[in-house]
Amino acid sequence: MDGAAELVFCVNGRKVIEKNVDPETMLLPYLRKKLQLTGTKYGCGGGGCGACTVMISRYNPITKRIRHYPANACLLPICSLHGAAVTTVEGVGSTKARIHPVQERIAKCHGTQCGFCTPGMVMSIYTLLRNHPEPTLDQLTDALGGNLCRCTGYRPIIDACKTFCKTSGCCQSKENGVCCLDQGINELPEFEEGNKTSPKLFSEEEFLPLDPTQELIFPPELMIMAEKQPQRTRVFVGDRMTWISPVTLKELLEAKVKYPQAPIVMGNTSVGPEVRFKGAFHPVIISPECIEELSVVNHADDGLTLGAGLSLAQVKEILKTQTYHALLKHLGTLAGCQIRNMASLGGHIVSRHLDSDLNPLLAVGNCTLNLLSKEGERQIPLNEQFLTKCPSADLKPGEILVSVNIPYSRKWEFVSAFRQAQRQQNALAIVNSGMRVFFGEGGGIIRELSIAYGGVGPTTICAKNSCQKLIGRPWNEEMLDAACRLILDEVSLPGWAPGGKVEFKRTLLISFFFKFYLKVSQILKTMDPVRYPGLADKYESALEDLHSRNHWGTSKYQDVDPKQLPQDPIGRPIMHLSGIKHTTGEAIYCDDMPVLDGELFLAFVTSSRAHAEIVSIDLSEALSLPGVVDIVTEEDLRGVNSFGLFGEPEKLLETQEVSCVGQLVCAVVADSEVQAKRAAKRVKIVYQDLEPVILTIEEAIRHHSFFQGERKLEYGNVDEAFKVVDQILEGEIHMGGQEHFYMETQSMLAVPKGEDQEMDVYVSSQFPKYIQDIVAATLKVPANKIMCHVKRVGGAFGGKVTKTGIMAAITPSPHLLHGCPVRCILERGEDMLITGGRHPYLGKYKAGFMNDGRILALDVEHYCNGGSTLDESLFVIEIGLLKVDNAYKFPNLRFRGWACRTNLPSNTALRGFGFPQSGLITENCITEVAAKCGLSPEKVRMMNMYKEIDQTPYKQEIDATNLIQCWKECMATSSYSLRKVAVEKFNSENYWKKKGLAMVPLKFPVGVLSTAAAQAAALVHIYLDGSVLVTHGGIEMGQGVHTKMIQVASRELRMPMSNVHLRGTSTETVPNANVSGGSLVADLNGLAVKDACQTLLKRLEPIISKNPKGTWKDWAQAAFDESISLSATGYFRGYESHMNWETGEGHPFEYFVFGAACSEVEIDCLTGAHKNIRTDIVMDIGHSINPALDVGQIEGAFIQGMGLYTIEELKYSPQGVLYTRGPDQYKIPAVSDVPTELHVSFLPPSQNSNTLYSSKGLGEPGVFLGCSVFFAIHDAVRAARQERGLLGPLKLDSPLTPEKIRMACEDKFTKMIPRDEPGSYVPWNIPV
Ligand SMILES: Cc1cc2nc3c(=O)[nH]c(=O)nc-3n(C[C@H](O)[C@H](O)[C@H](O)COP(=O)(O)OP(=O)(O)OC[C@H]3O[C@@H](n4cnc5c(N)ncnc54)[C@H](O)[C@@H]3O)c2cc1C
Ligand code: FES
Ligand code: FES
Repeated sequence: MDGAAELVFCVNGRKVIEKNVDPETMLLPYLRKKLQLTGTKYGCGGGGCGACTVMISRYNPITKRIRHYPANACLLPICSLHGAAVTTVEGVGSTKARIHPVQERIAKCHGTQCGFCTPGMVMSIYTLLRNHPEPTLDQLTDALGGNLCRCTGYRPIIDACKTFCKTSGCCQSKENGVCCLDQGINELPEFEEGNKTSPKLFSEEEFLPLDPTQELIFPPELMIMAEKQPQRTRVFVGDRMTWISPVTLKELLEAKVKYPQAPIVMGNTSVGPEVRFKGAFHPVIISPECIEELSVVNHADDGLTLGAGLSLAQVKEILKTQTYHALLKHLGTLAGCQIRNMASLGGHIVSRHLDSDLNPLLAVGNCTLNLLSKEGERQIPLNEQFLTKCPSADLKPGEILVSVNIPYSRKWEFVSAFRQAQRQQNALAIVNSGMRVFFGEGGGIIRELSIAYGGVGPTTICAKNSCQKLIGRPWNEEMLDAACRLILDEVSLPGWAPGGKVEFKRTLLISFFFKFYLKVSQILKTMDPVRYPGLADKYESALEDLHSRNHWGTSKYQDVDPKQLPQDPIGRPIMHLSGIKHTTGEAIYCDDMPVLDGELFLAFVTSSRAHAEIVSIDLSEALSLPGVVDIVTEEDLRGVNSFGLFGEPEKLLETQEVSCVGQLVCAVVADSEVQAKRAAKRVKIVYQDLEPVILTIEEAIRHHSFFQGERKLEYGNVDEAFKVVDQILEGEIHMGGQEHFYMETQSMLAVPKGEDQEMDVYVSSQFPKYIQDIVAATLKVPANKIMCHVKRVGGAFGGKVTKTGIMAAITPSPHLLHGCPVRCILERGEDMLITGGRHPYLGKYKAGFMNDGRILALDVEHYCNGGSTLDESLFVIEIGLLKVDNAYKFPNLRFRGWACRTNLPSNTALRGFGFPQSGLITENCITEVAAKCGLSPEKVRMMNMYKEIDQTPYKQEIDATNLIQCWKECMATSSYSLRKVAVEKFNSENYWKKKGLAMVPLKFPVGVLSTAAAQAAALVHIYLDGSVLVTHGGIEMGQGVHTKMIQVASRELRMPMSNVHLRGTSTETVPNANVSGGSLVADLNGLAVKDACQTLLKRLEPIISKNPKGTWKDWAQAAFDESISLSATGYFRGYESHMNWETGEGHPFEYFVFGAACSEVEIDCLTGAHKNIRTDIVMDIGHSINPALDVGQIEGAFIQGMGLYTIEELKYSPQGVLYTRGPDQYKIPAVSDVPTELHVSFLPPSQNSNTLYSSKGLGEPGVFLGCSVFFAIHDAVRAARQERGLLGPLKLDSPLTPEKIRMACEDKFTKMIPRDEPGSYVPWNIPV
């Protein structure tokens, strides 16, 4: 093999030549660290989030065509890029040169918040436009399917991208052939668009046109190289790995003979994650390049032959022109666009993943594999033996897969594909299936039958015996019944099966077959209506896809008063000030800071046991690895190994007794990230397990394992009230936790300044003062030596407060010995494991009510799973209690709450802070009361709501006028009554699909229970050129607080926003700032900025009045000349706030945000899938400071809440190990989950208050509104159950996943499955 050690490719048009490339290097770290192109972000490292999306362009010298496709840089080995052109977000456009229309539009349509996902979004759309300058909406949503955003809720991103579509005004509906532009859709009034009081949030007229001729061309040099250079195998040799890239089939076979164990890496989407996450290592990798035979597409009379090297995206394109509907269906939902473009057909088949979507279909479709080796060609069937890797049916060591033959289906032969995942798109299937039947010459007698399932065994499983036994039987109900029983018998899943959801999986096995049965019956009917009578209309719904119109939405807000000065920005939809920089990748996050001289990397070693004594820690092997500098243990912390923010000190490193999996034990410090992480895995810890191991809330209750005593709030006389009510109901609901899933993982960089023990700490934190305090304490220096700086945070949601502090306390400690800067960036999996999240809750309630629905007495108990340390758990319980009434006046109530101490990673603050759990418990109780009274939940809600002026349970006055107003407005804008009728009609006409409609009110009290915790400060400087610098204590984490602060300064100083700058947050400029959270960041800091500006203006007024026509430069100079200070601090002492838990009285909150949301969903009773069809939200947010940012907060929070209540599911092993440690296992909402219609409107501002310009804080309230989707699903499930005669109580826990939906829609299939005796097996996971 003639090796060429040089790797040549282009990045953004510039040639890169690597002479000594390490084959283990992926493109992402190469771009970020080596080329300093930090626009491409790390979000997960496993292809699941899209933050690292780049465009790859390849020139094919034979076809002379260039292929552009999106790819995940985190899974792209750079050795695979020889001859390719890489375009990153920096190559698309920049503020220094010219921004690209994609970048401009995403920013100006408010499609960025924290901005961390944005470069990836830009690259996905940019690549789409390179291939389709006027894409369809389907192409657009497809292109965004592999990109996650945790902030925006996607609607503004879709809106921005729609401006490139030809038909952007239309939903492009395919549902029943009706589109949103057609009159009278569903015979319901349309949502009113273009209200005069509601200007658009962006103006399309000012957008740059898309000009494809302006794009970067494919580098001619690479083209010439591809044409002219002799093609020969390239070999790249690294320290541990050798990469061989053969360019001919012959060379490939030679390499395979020489290294039979070496994998053939095509897309690296299977091998890559195994290396990264499962510890696989391959000393040699063979990666064929541009081998023509592997890209063959051959149409023969009996089928299609597809090269094993074709990407799944290419296969999808090819199949579009053929009639492979079933394969196409799966290719549409398999992974995201990036993975489909990288992954190869051959890699997919040969990997034989248990959840492979294509293998079950290819297996039932009688496909054959064309293999080649030095010995010659041979064909093997893609059958069960191949899939189970039976040696006689598998590839031999020297063999490669060249192509796949996919036969066409014959007359009277039918093939179908089924799958159900946690999320509709870009999620591995829980169960999938391929099914085929052949009837010979009609007659309806089964001649051949094949059924294969994925997700139910170690690989694809074929129900061969069942199929065999059904041959010769007619296609009728008896056959269906027999088939279901046979399948359940053959494809048996033990109760402990990996992946859990065992009963759901069993049900899916036969539900899918039932769908197949119906589908084939229906086709038979169309082919021969006389012989096959077919289905009743009502049952046809089993076959239809869930509602699938394209997205559209509206936002309605009040325009500013026409008398407001045009330059006054308050109340206007100003773009996020970093918006453009987010889209160009120029916005700098913590890990984008360049590597410093002598910088070290710190990686944590964490406990693998839930409760155990540490017997010994052996560091020797880790320390002996190259590049390892030190290992930080408890001793290195010099006696400062705990820090308490909430009363109970929390240990930083634990070396004696660990109390959860993921607890920090020690930290390895090395000269590179790779070495530190490698060494961390070599630290050997010996444990002695301890009892008890308490994981669930129920176990904690049994063991009385609580943090402190109960928290209690009582109002009226509950016990007396229970005596007079008509009915009493008792119930409970369990609610799972939630992962923050901020896109930027925990990041910090500690930089010693070299003198006086000074240190700068750059950190992604919501609470710089805390970081300063904790670092100062551990380094034993005064706080004035430690300065903490936060430019911006890539999402936080409450997760970058306490846990960040603990890690930040440890990170600088190696500096004491080595004097070096230290960086620590968590990987996604570590982050999810270590940092905890939203508290799981158990709510128990007893409600006393009258038959007309009035609730007179409520007795509620809350238990939260706090995990192993106190953190904010008691505070969460307290807030949950104070907010449990939500929008309702319960005349007699008793609320009690406990924070459970368990052996899980400690849970912490997450957007909404107890309210999303507490509110759900209350709403669930109301839903049950309504069912008992035979009333709609909405009626009972309205009946029990606060009306006008009233008193909360803690005796704070409340004016609920706007609450009622929101409710009524939401009823009206959503056409609730009409749609309720339409939903009922739909439900009566469809047996297997049901719709549900639900509306929930919101009363979100805003405040932090303490005046001191709400104080804020700002510092404003005016420079002699008239420019202004604003600093305040708030953190920019996506909510746009800096933009709002500049708006405030601009109004107060009456100067354009462009004249005001904000550099970031630092303990150096604003000391002792409170944590940024609790919806109050803009509120409080805005008042401080306003104060500073007013002080300055007061000082300058005499000067300005002397020269009213002067400029700010003139006034600043004049002030300077008169020795008037041009710098002022501003201060807000905090809202008056107090709460006395002894008396249960207080004034803990400053004001209430009111709102209401109405959601409509459709569910598939056979699979548990759901689709949110429409959501209408009405909010009373006072006078909005910036409607664009405020709509963004509401929508983003709503989608996050929707995820919380429906699909986001944390899974723990019975030993307390968190399984869900990345986007592949934990599903946050993706673009496909956004409601088809999303309408957000603000109540016209009616009340003035002493908040900042009478505005209200909005960061958190919207999360709770996501439960309107939960209750809409609840409504749909209830309808299904009623039709099936199940009229009793309905207990549905949160999240309401496909599993819970399916199992609640009980039918003959759920009755047919075998059930395991509880206690007879150890389940794979446990609800905590
Ligand atoms: C984020 C993500 C999401 C995903 N979602 C889905 C999903 O929803 N549904 C689904 O079904 N799958 C999903 N997958 C799996 C994906 O389909 C497979 O990883 C992919 O198809 C493998 O192809 P590859 O070219 O990347 O394989 P590689 O990783 O390059 O190789 C995989 C294996 O195949 C062997 N191999 C490759 N080509 C040949 C050949 N020509 N001859 C012999 N052996 C060969 C290699 O030796 C290696 O062992 C997902 C993967 C990721 C990373
Ligand atoms: S970082 Fe590459 S997909 Fe998440
Ligand atoms: S803006 Fe998308 S993750 Fe923050």
